[in-house]
Amino acid sequence: MALARPVVLGNWKMNGLRADGLALAGALADKAAKLSGTLGVFPPATLLGAVARRLEGSGILVGGQDCHERASGAHTGSISAAMLKDAGAQAVILGHSERRHGLGETDALVAAKALAALDAGLRIVVCVGETEQEWLDGRTLERLDTQLRGSIPAGVDADRLIVAYEPVWAIGTGRTPGVDEIEAAHRHLRDRLAGLVTDGQTVPLLYGGSVKSGNASDILAQRSVDGALVGGASLDAREFWAIYQAGGGA
Ligand code: PGA
Repeated sequence: MALARPVVLGNWKMNGLRADGLALAGALADKAAKLSGTLGVFPPATLLGAVARRLEGSGILVGGQDCHERASGAHTGSISAAMLKDAGAQAVILGHSERRHGLGETDALVAAKALAALDAGLRIVVCVGETEQEWLDGRTLERLDTQLRGSIPAGVDADRLIVAYEPVWAIGTGRTPGVDEIEAAHRHLRDRLAGLVTDGQTVPLLYGGSVKSGNASDILAQRSVDGALVGGASLDAREFWAIYQAGGGA
């Protein structure tokens, strides 16, 4: 099923113990009586089951932050897509820059993980974004093309795919591209997706990188921006909800 706009997803990254995660989930569930858009949280794997249970019936989507490309086997420390699903996840973030750049994940690995996640019945949130040097060199769109082509498996159902444009240099830095740069990148992605995926123009395109309540309305007002992938600001229920509202969500 297509997701209602705005699509605002919170990536909690490696933050929170059980009490924090449950308090945050509870505060969001209290606000989200009847969601007009799509709100989602991506807790650390240790909290996935508890958060999914806490949010049952709230309409808030819950997902994992990564999965292994294999269905099972001798992969110490890794988590399969089916395990995420079993714990209550409906989606998974793949190709986040902290994994691409911090852990050396390639486009091919992201595509393999995407296939595994789709096989397990999850939606995939595929992240793409240029480095600061690529941005300075004016190679943003070229970079996005390569990542998009390399990371998205052929034949993916548009309803199961979300793409997040996250400039590496904007993540956790308080810096963002200008809104017209964001819009241009999204328009470009929309155009490319139409050639890669059947009904690709319907895929939600999220912007991520230092989104806060203070800049969310400007960013989310852009025509080709369907929502946001939020890191730091998603750890505060009021701030996260304010971002969702800034995008027209109620
Ligand atoms: P940030 O992170 O909002 O803290 O910049 C965004 C992300 O990594 O998805």
